[in-house]
Amino acid sequence: MAFQYWISKKQPQKNKLLSLRGGYHGDTFAAMSVCDPQNGMHHIFNQVLPEHYFAPKPQTAFDQPFKKGDIAEFKAILEAHHQQIAAVILEPIVQGAGGMHFYSPDYLRQVRALCSEHNILLIADEIATGFGRTGKLFACEWAEISPDIICLGKSLTGGYMTLAATLCSDEVSQGICEGEAGCFMHGPTFMGNPLACSVANASIDLLLSQDWQANVKRIEATFSAELEAFKPLESVATTRCMGAIAVIEMKQAVNLAEIQKKFVAQGLWVRPFGKLVYLMPPFIITDKQIKKLMKGVYEVLSELQEI
Ligand SMILES: Cc1ncc(COP(=O)(O)O)c(C=O)c1O
Repeated sequence: MAFQYWISKKQPQKNKLLSLRGGYHGDTFAAMSVCDPQNGMHHIFNQVLPEHYFAPKPQTAFDQPFKKGDIAEFKAILEAHHQQIAAVILEPIVQGAGGMHFYSPDYLRQVRALCSEHNILLIADEIATGFGRTGKLFACEWAEISPDIICLGKSLTGGYMTLAATLCSDEVSQGICEGEAGCFMHGPTFMGNPLACSVANASIDLLLSQDWQANVKRIEATFSAELEAFKPLESVATTRCMGAIAVIEMKQAVNLAEIQKKFVAQGLWVRPFGKLVYLMPPFIITDKQIKKLMKGVYEVLSELQEI
């Protein structure tokens, strides 16, 4: 969408993206090319992926005062290359599979301002954060900003069917349609699958018909209280929680094959990656179930400590 928008605007040289290190956007080729080029699983494809720009991972944590200079390199890249950059793509507030990193809304606010100043579209990948996961319906709301394009998936159907959606502003859609092509030139066979769309509508209605904010706050409060027990563990570096996301960051990478068997023996399905043991349960989880989950995770992680 971003590329076609700039082709329509007679600026086809705007054919690069800028993303953040530590980001994760998926496994198709264009998506792989904007994932963190080092820490992800895609480096073996480096020779075949298109090259884009990367700014450092935001350093200021979600609840910290903004560190001066955190946005400096991002700004320098935009200033130097804005004529080639079609869009910035990032995961707002929570970088998910690239490190479960929660960063400052001030950073995001400044990104929005810089994109507007330099005539660059902002793409918010809310595939993991969308539909209440961080405590806001969309994570962009923490910074009170609107992206030009937003990517949705995962919770769009509550996980019941596969569906993703890419939404854009009127400016982007009109820009695309006013170009030579006249419409958006991209569409796979199963696009807009009616059954999946119907499931998505039902899931969104269900979410919005209840006090989901209070529910996510309840999950957050129970997670936060339960995470306290992990802090004294020798093998744990740090813990964090935001909305319905809990993260236990270990000092060393865990052995996935081994640890997963132990989780299963506890009756749990947890899939850590690297040093990160993270939990993103469905919102129907009860406090009792969260406690069972955290107790099982604690048993497994405290066993690691004894090795
Ligand atoms: C933020 C983010 N973007 C994109 C994706 C990729 O989505 P999909 O696997 O549906 O292509 C993921 C999946 O984990 C994600 O977390």
